[in-house]
Amino acid sequence: MRIDIISVVPGLLESPFAHSIMKRAQDKGLLEVEVHNLRTYTPYKQGQVDDYQFGGGAGMVIMPEPLAILIDKLKEEREYAEIIFMTPDGITFNQPIANRLSLGGNLIIICGHYKGIDQRIRDMYITMELSIGDYVLSGGELAAAVVVDAIGRLIPGVLNDETSALTDSFQDNLLAPPVYTRPAEFRGVKVPAELMSGNHKLIEEWRYQQALERTKERRPDLLED
Ligand code: ADE
Repeated sequence: MRIDIISVVPGLLESPFAHSIMKRAQDKGLLEVEVHNLRTYTPYKQGQVDDYQFGGGAGMVIMPEPLAILIDKLKEEREYAEIIFMTPDGITFNQPIANRLSLGGNLIIICGHYKGIDQRIRDMYITMELSIGDYVLSGGELAAAVVVDAIGRLIPGVLNDETSALTDSFQDNLLAPPVYTRPAEFRGVKVPAELMSGNHKLIEEWRYQQALERTKERRPDLLED
């Protein structure tokens, strides 16, 4: 899968994909992440990409031309499943959306800044608007990094058995159960006996019950449907 991210502050995205599982996904050839500096594509002088909003009001708006030029160029090069705009007024990103996008093909992700992007780009090009939560970030870059990370690890072949996404929180509408490692006793507190029993059926049942309890306590909304 190829993901093209469009940003006016590409430096913010230099490191999130250069380590750990995102790096492995790219090394394996399963994921290609390309970050584009929007200023490179502007027809205006001195790399200008934003301007005052018509009608007045504080905050600059990213102009439509540079975005249209870059998106058109990318679309000529390959097909995209979605053109996503990161914005706090989008639909809230979650695991089912991550699952679907991980299987759906190439993506363009546009990071907003200042007051956002010209509405005409949203109307003409954007197929999906995503928020990562009800708070406002200073730009869409960190939100895009969250989305790419969540999608990238789900691409078939990226995770091995040990890190399998099947046991993640939310995959079955349940939060993940507690986990323990060595030592078996830490400051007087022992690892639950079920996990030490060697009985796989008992361990699975214990994990399921713990996941259910944790979900009831912390996220009862997940059990509603
Ligand atoms: N840009 C600014 N805040 C955001 C948010 N919460 N989600 C996605 N993009 C954003």
